Amino acid sequence: MRRLAATSLLAVAGCNAHQSALAPFGEEADDTLTLTIVLAIGALILASGVAVLAWRAARSPKGAISHEGGMKLVLWLGAVGPAVILTVLLLFALPAMRPMSAAPGDLRIRVEGEQFWWRVRYDPAGEAPLTAANEIRVPVGRTVVFDLTATDVIHSFWIPGLAGKMDMIPGRTNRLVVRARKAGIYRGVCTEFCGLSHALMAFDVIAMEPAAFDAWLADARRASDGNEADAGGAAAFAAHGCGACHAIRGTAHDARIGPDLSRFGERRTLGAGILQPTIENTAAFIRDPHRFKPGARMPAYKSMAPADAEAIARYLKGLP
Ligand code: CUA
Repeated sequence: MRRLAATSLLAVAGCNAHQSALAPFGEEADDTLTLTIVLAIGALILASGVAVLAWRAARSPKGAISHEGGMKLVLWLGAVGPAVILTVLLLFALPAMRPMSAAPGDLRIRVEGEQFWWRVRYDPAGEAPLTAANEIRVPVGRTVVFDLTATDVIHSFWIPGLAGKMDMIPGRTNRLVVRARKAGIYRGVCTEFCGLSHALMAFDVIAMEPAAFDAWLADARRASDGNEADAGGAAAFAAHGCGACHAIRGTAHDARIGPDLSRFGERRTLGAGILQPTIENTAAFIRDPHRFKPGARMPAYKSMAPADAEAIARYLKGLP
């Protein structure tokens, strides 16, 4: 029944299951959807009942209900009924409002909101952290603790299919505990106005089977050689000073100002969820980021020779 209701709600909303609270893949979003469906059906039943009563009242002759009868109706439908309904709803909703609990050994992922991208750091218990950006991978069935904060202004972290929203506030760490229920690729967004490119700051969430996630993490941790096979691209990256802001694991570039570019080749998007990461788009973004992302902190490199921008883009695309 719930699946049918969710599917019809999806059809009504014309939503994409990739980013929708109506197509949940996590336990908290499941509870929220159940609550939404119960509320919607309950509201429909109540509204129909009131409509039927109003229709009957309009058709009955004047004085059909005595004053005493009218007072009773008001008492039952106006006071007792709502009190019972609200109490039942409260009892039903309270368990869903309880945050999921986390254990010390759970995987922690720190996500920092930046203008306008996401700094990601995986912190598995007992292992060294791993930095990434603009893409978050989570293991299915395991509890994941998101530690959420921001660097400059307030952002809000929302993966509609996984859980509710959580603010990201500079100087404070908010915690969101989640558990993905099925593998797939989903989308998260910023839901707090944070500047010119607020609407241009999204990210992919890749829910993976636990073994695949562990293998990915181990593989990502291995220092890449920074795609040294592409010596020309590596030289252009260094010569234009890209390493002053960006880091690539396994190379001398380890700055933390801009997004970490390690394993750029496997990213599904460019510019935090806004562009296809093709060589053409990457080169265009390097030369003029503000064309795609107004207000971004990255300086424009309009004077860079297109061939150099393309060499850097090809080098990044080749990062293992
Ligand atoms: Cu970040 Cu809106």
